[in-house]
Amino acid sequence: MRKNLILLLCCVVLIFTGCGPKQEMVKKELFGTYKGGEVYLLTLTNKDGNVLKLTNFGARITWIELPDRNGNKDNVTFGFDTFDGMVAGDRYFGAVVGRYANRIARGKFTLDGVEYTLPINNGPNSLHGGPDGWHSVVWNIEIVEKTEYPTVKFTYRSPDMEAGYPGNMDVEALYTWTDNNEIIIDYTLTTDKKTVFNITNHAYFNLHGAGNGDILDHELMIKASRFVPVDTFLIPTGEYRPVAGSPFDFTTPHKVGERINENYDQLIFGKGYDHTFVFDNTDEVDATVYEPVSGRFMEVISDQPGVQFYCGNFLTGKMIGHGGKPYNYRSGLCLETGHCPDSPNQPAFPSTVLNPGETFKSRTIYRFSVK
Ligand code: BGC
Repeated sequence: MRKNLILLLCCVVLIFTGCGPKQEMVKKELFGTYKGGEVYLLTLTNKDGNVLKLTNFGARITWIELPDRNGNKDNVTFGFDTFDGMVAGDRYFGAVVGRYANRIARGKFTLDGVEYTLPINNGPNSLHGGPDGWHSVVWNIEIVEKTEYPTVKFTYRSPDMEAGYPGNMDVEALYTWTDNNEIIIDYTLTTDKKTVFNITNHAYFNLHGAGNGDILDHELMIKASRFVPVDTFLIPTGEYRPVAGSPFDFTTPHKVGERINENYDQLIFGKGYDHTFVFDNTDEVDATVYEPVSGRFMEVISDQPGVQFYCGNFLTGKMIGHGGKPYNYRSGLCLETGHCPDSPNQPAFPSTVLNPGETFKSRTIYRFSVK
């Protein structure tokens, strides 16, 4: 009797001090090896049991499992079930992209009178830091302990002249998966030589569930009264164009597919939407996506100057992702926050230069809920 009482007391103490059995917030499992580096799958589980999976191959998001309005869970981002599938597949799905996300015209830019040459991997241009950019390197992992939410920090040292860019650059991507179903990404960058950069996350979203049809019925809002028109190689013309009166006006919600086939020069050049929208920079939410069938809703909040809205115009269905599902034409959309393409060659755009002694810090949040 006395023993039972002591046992009961111990349990009460354990429960109240929070020392009882606790759900593991971050699980780390070996996923594969790449060029001698160990690649892990990190499973982050929040209070509601919703799961975010990350991997240090490209510091990428590979799984976001969320309920619809009836509580049925599905994964809403593109990725692969196996490591081999991931390496053989589209390298950008969910990855952190750098040193320069998006295009640099003809793979050349000049800094303090020195011309730098980058790998050409997209028509005549350099795209996403070249073929071996940050999306395809093995990052270091730190599971951040003593935090309220599951948190993983990826770090990488990008060596001087990597893919043609000057300066050793230290880059950090800190992912936090909150109980409010928010993925918070905090980027920190430093360099030891003057350089240029543009960092983003390249997740594809389909709020029906990845691989479940197209995204043309997703209702998109972007708080941007201007966007960046491009030429046929998707290089900016150098101006900003007002969205008013055009199929690029998403200042109020519109279905992605509503105006996509209109005879408008930029939709023809981009083969659909594949453009940077310049945020109006309110302190509120910068973009939202609503999918009416499941009720899933995504908000994007960022301190970056704009967002590349890309609606999967180059997806062909050849990429087979999670659960053996093909990722078909326009079956995913990206909202890649960052600077404008080709900024190092475009004097009118905000500067993408980073100097030694400076620290670039930036935060983007993808917040999920249902309506
Ligand atoms: C670009 C697209 C490109 C895609 C590659 C996007 O950031 O804007 O043009 O095809 O990345 O995954």
